[in-house]
Amino acid sequence: MVWYDNIFEEFECNRDKRMIILAIETSCDDTGAALIEKGKKILSNLVSSQDEVHRKYGGVVPELASRRHLENILPVIRGSLEEAHKSLDEIDAVGVTKGPGLVGSLLVGISAAKAISYTKGIPLVGVNHLMGHLLAVFLEEDVPFPFIGMVASGGHTALYLVEGFTAFRFLGGTRDDAAGEAFDKVAKYLGLGYPGGRVIEDLARHGNPCAISFPRAYIAKDSLEFSFSGVKTAVVNYVRSHSPGYDGIADIAASFQEAVVDVLVNKVIWAAQRHGVSRVVVSGGVASNSRLRERLEQQGKGLGIKAYFPSPHLCKDNAAMIGVAAYHLFKEGKKDGLDMGALSRWPLGR
Ligand code: KG4
Ligand code: ZN
Repeated sequence: MVWYDNIFEEFECNRDKRMIILAIETSCDDTGAALIEKGKKILSNLVSSQDEVHRKYGGVVPELASRRHLENILPVIRGSLEEAHKSLDEIDAVGVTKGPGLVGSLLVGISAAKAISYTKGIPLVGVNHLMGHLLAVFLEEDVPFPFIGMVASGGHTALYLVEGFTAFRFLGGTRDDAAGEAFDKVAKYLGLGYPGGRVIEDLARHGNPCAISFPRAYIAKDSLEFSFSGVKTAVVNYVRSHSPGYDGIADIAASFQEAVVDVLVNKVIWAAQRHGVSRVVVSGGVASNSRLRERLEQQGKGLGIKAYFPSPHLCKDNAAMIGVAAYHLFKEGKKDGLDMGALSRWPLGR
């Protein structure tokens, strides 16, 4: 479409242009909108969480998530503009999560993004949610390429060799549950609430991480694939045969967390060693886990590997990270038409 080309040319000719992207993220249960300047500076970053909607079910209910996105999307977008003191006329492009995720949720964000793109005559850029997680770190610091990127969230656990802002090579993912999903399922089974990661981390502080030896699924020596369903089943079996009290539950939480952290830390380090890189970036909701941060920093230091983590609010789902990815895609001339659809599955770097 003509206006897209004009805007891109204008951007190309004027590299000092402030280039403000309105980014929208609705891939799962958080409604996010952000204004990002030059792919780096956060002018605003709003997230409306739906945790209280899904808490009583112990997991995300897709139908409820899309309904809540519909209610939230316009207030969140309006809020992001107000917080940044900008109007829609000052936006240069709209970036939106196109997948992977829940289609009913994605479509709410995509429809809003298309409406803004069409009415304001500005480009629309569809973004892979995983790319957003991998680039979130650039909102806070410049990490030299190449690095190993690990996304550990409720929906994904995957390792990438990241060679540039838009250059990703998939190294391995989970065969079954994602790391965050295992935290959520174990927390649900133990009756601790939803989402499970934070409650397990809090409870683990009162427990002994060496109390119970839960299995670590390394799959094969040096394998970069993950599997977390075994440790989850091991927790269920342990509870059935021991009927633990409060102290016992704290030990289970600490021992379970240690088993997951051991696997994540070792695999990201193996990936760095195999590819001869000295930097690793970990993102996604599970990356806010302080035991994971502490263990990877320590273990990496001894091996000359530096670990980077975005701040916890940028690790979990947010629109600012989508804005970073949209900026770099747009800079490379990538944009979408108004016929863009939502993708429930969208492998990155394969
Ligand atoms: O990235 P995110 O907000 O959404 C997805 O893309 O999935 O990640 C949410 C996941 C949930 O499974 C949650 O339990 C987990 O991240 N999580 C944590 C912690 N905080 C959130 N897992 C372990 N420790 C935490 N502190
Ligand atoms: Zn995510």
